[in-house]
Amino acid sequence: MTITLSFEIRSCPCFLAALFIVGAGCSNGSGTTGTSSSGGAGTKTGGVTSAAGGGSSGGVLTTTGGVTAATGGVTTTAGATTAPATGVQGGSSAQGGSLGQGGSVAQAGTTGQGESSTRAGATGVGGTAGQGGTIAGGGFGGPGIRDAGAVDVAPDGSVGPGPVPPVYNGLRGQDFNNGWKFNRGDVTNGQNATFDDSTWRNLSVPHDWSIELAFNQKSPAGSGGGFLDGGVGWYRKTFTLDQAYSGKKILIQFDGVYMNSQVWINGTSLGTRPYGYSSFEYDLTPYAKFGSASNVIAVRVNNNQPTSRWYSGSGIYRNVWLTVVNPVHVTNSGVFVSTPTVSSSSASVSVSSEVQNQSTTSQSVTVTTTVFDPGGASVASDTSPASNVGANATATVSQSLMVTNPQLWSTISPNLYQVKVELNAGGATVDTYLAPLGIRTATFSSTGGFSLNGQNTKLRGVCLHNDLGALGSAINYRALERQVEIMKAMGVNAIRTSHNPPAPELLDICDREGIVVMDEAFDCWESAKVSNDYHLYFTQWAQTDLQTFVRRDRNHPSVIMWSVGNEIPNPTTATATNLKNWVLAVDSTRPVTWASVNTSNANNQAVAAVLDLQGYNYSEGRYDQDHTAHATWKLFGSETSSAVRSRGIYETPASKSILTSSDTQCSSYDNSVVSWGSSAESSYKNDVSRSFVAGQFIWTGFDYIGEPTPYPWPAKSSYFGIVDTAGFPKDIYYFYQSHWTTTPMVHVLPHWNWTAGTTVTVFVYTNCDSAELFLNGVSQGSKTFASGAVHLEWSVPWATGTLHVDGKRGGVVVASEDVKTAGTAATVALSADRNTISADGRDLVFVTADVQDAAGILVPTAANAMSFSVSGPGEIVGVDNGNAIDTSTYKATTRNAFSGKALAIVRSTGATGPIVITASSTGLASGSVSLSAQ
Ligand code: GAL
Repeated sequence: MTITLSFEIRSCPCFLAALFIVGAGCSNGSGTTGTSSSGGAGTKTGGVTSAAGGGSSGGVLTTTGGVTAATGGVTTTAGATTAPATGVQGGSSAQGGSLGQGGSVAQAGTTGQGESSTRAGATGVGGTAGQGGTIAGGGFGGPGIRDAGAVDVAPDGSVGPGPVPPVYNGLRGQDFNNGWKFNRGDVTNGQNATFDDSTWRNLSVPHDWSIELAFNQKSPAGSGGGFLDGGVGWYRKTFTLDQAYSGKKILIQFDGVYMNSQVWINGTSLGTRPYGYSSFEYDLTPYAKFGSASNVIAVRVNNNQPTSRWYSGSGIYRNVWLTVVNPVHVTNSGVFVSTPTVSSSSASVSVSSEVQNQSTTSQSVTVTTTVFDPGGASVASDTSPASNVGANATATVSQSLMVTNPQLWSTISPNLYQVKVELNAGGATVDTYLAPLGIRTATFSSTGGFSLNGQNTKLRGVCLHNDLGALGSAINYRALERQVEIMKAMGVNAIRTSHNPPAPELLDICDREGIVVMDEAFDCWESAKVSNDYHLYFTQWAQTDLQTFVRRDRNHPSVIMWSVGNEIPNPTTATATNLKNWVLAVDSTRPVTWASVNTSNANNQAVAAVLDLQGYNYSEGRYDQDHTAHATWKLFGSETSSAVRSRGIYETPASKSILTSSDTQCSSYDNSVVSWGSSAESSYKNDVSRSFVAGQFIWTGFDYIGEPTPYPWPAKSSYFGIVDTAGFPKDIYYFYQSHWTTTPMVHVLPHWNWTAGTTVTVFVYTNCDSAELFLNGVSQGSKTFASGAVHLEWSVPWATGTLHVDGKRGGVVVASEDVKTAGTAATVALSADRNTISADGRDLVFVTADVQDAAGILVPTAANAMSFSVSGPGEIVGVDNGNAIDTSTYKATTRNAFSGKALAIVRSTGATGPIVITASSTGLASGSVSLSAQ
């Protein structure tokens, strides 16, 4: 077929044969090619908190000025139009949200109150209830379908998102996500306190405006950016600070603003931050007004695309926190916990606490540090000798504690301890900082790969980009958690945060789920990959961004290595050395690595000699020779495979490599592979057969928006995913599961709707010894794995009916699966991923709609249009089907099925009660599913 190509050409691994059938070469830039016959565009109830300075009962002690139900409080007024809540104590209920933070202790099981869920305040001691008081007023605004993070504030101010557990900076932040005003496009003087923002949209962050837009073939984001525009946007938030906060330090933290943010308080610029993936903090204290006086935070965001080689999202797309501390306090990310020695009988826990004295007099301080075990029991405590910290000085207090018989953190048993640092000045506790602690060793060797607690462990990893499918980049805890759960069920034990610092919540989830992390900072250094990417800022900002990132993430046991870059064009040892030293200055306990492409290149080899681990992107063919030539290199596959596939699409013959097809879909027989990549099977074999290779990170776990290689528009999302953007597994998911898990499973493909006369290639993925295939009860034979085989295969003359497979161990059937020929589409069947969700206004239920025939069999080719509706306290925040070429907006209530399936994502609104979701489709019986928001 003839396709006109318009796409961004990415910098591809040039040493590999060019994928691009048409005009794409290994260059940067955007362009439109002519026509071609086919072609590719390269491209967390508990935890009781007492009032200021009081004791805590198994929970989190938050100190003066921070979270005191009687006095503290930040009141948000959505615009200057709304009077501050007198029940600012309602504001303090927001601090019920802080109480919810006790949940983080409950999470460790200290009090056993509430659920062990990570939803702070979900059942909380006021976490949810407090929300009502958090927000005052604000008009209703915005469209009916919104980002999961973007809650338009209801007129009575009673609806707002529940608290999300802050996962870094000591759990000291108050949720500052509500009551923002938003304007897409630039304005003049938007930073001024008196600026009239009354016509702006009311929303809560996290918010991604790009995901709300229509796909635009001419978008400067290009193909790589998923054809969704960026541009300029403004946010403003008007709020009051309780008089009791006067004399405290008022700090604001942004987990991420994409990108080029400039932030003002009451008209005064606080600074700019180019890198959209960095977390950053500003000190509001000098400009803050207390009591009834209003304060205005203004944020200008400029996503001058192209800025990333993938979909980035635009706006305040991660959480915002307000932290109120005593002038004598622990600095941002200022506690560093490490475990210099670990054995089964004891572990030393080293804690360094950076104490800043911003008072006007010298202070005598002590630090009391307590380690709580996973059950919440105090197992070690130490109080430092008193030391004087001068006015406007910062001092580091170092302590060493001993934990006996530690419960080690591992991917199998992710035992999480917690460290509580209490800072005492002048006889009072002035700050309390909480940090996670996982006691483990993580080591790499040039001959034996990766070991966790001395146990050799293959990294069964996936690369993940930061978007959440239909939710865009607007961070949502449940959506992230679901991604990790789906990956873990496949057998994944490692995630690479390609190619940027992740939302901090991801690491919280990985700590809890036992997933190790390759935490990555940059996709480029000084040289560009796309015109407006980080290369513009690298020289000025790299040290700040890298060290802020490492400080933020260094207490997470899940993080096992720091990656300073991905496929860096023109790398120098000078820059690599700087980057490594900047990491080591804030964390010398973990190896520094990068993801290198083309390890035969002299520059890459020189950098490899500087760094601790050598990550290979698609260079597995050089494993053996490099292992011989560079015996000290510690190797792993930082990026592997890049096979492409579309869920439920099969291109034959299965034995032939077929990259593109006229339907602009890719094949699920593991026979669609980009030129620089390799099939799932091949990359698996390359890894599993070499004990010196620490493991691999497959490109990618989930599909992401952007980079729809190998197709041009209308393809707008990737085909690389093992799971599609909707979270529906493709067949290859079961290939990995068959090799990475041990609970008996068997999966058979393809679907069973073919035509008479077709001989169908049948693949079976199983972790059993053998499998027997039956068509309509007739055995097609039993098969075992021939040498080198990683799947089982049959050729079966198709006949309508049931294809059944039995997986056997020792001759005993331990797993089985059917695929059946579907008749005409008759009904829509809905299923929900959970029966109960939190009524916190943020929790999500993922609802799958299957098009079925009258017998309840999935119609594998169905593309019926579905219309979703919700009754009760839930609202649709996105729809999807995983079809890479579907350019209908994610922010809708309708969606065509793709390969028989569609997805609706429904968020709780803040109220409790039953939620019923219904899907209707012309000519089909409607389906519905019920759940409860509690
Ligand atoms: C790699 C690159 C990834 C992605 C992938 C697609 O070279 O690091 O970001 O572009 O190719 O195969």
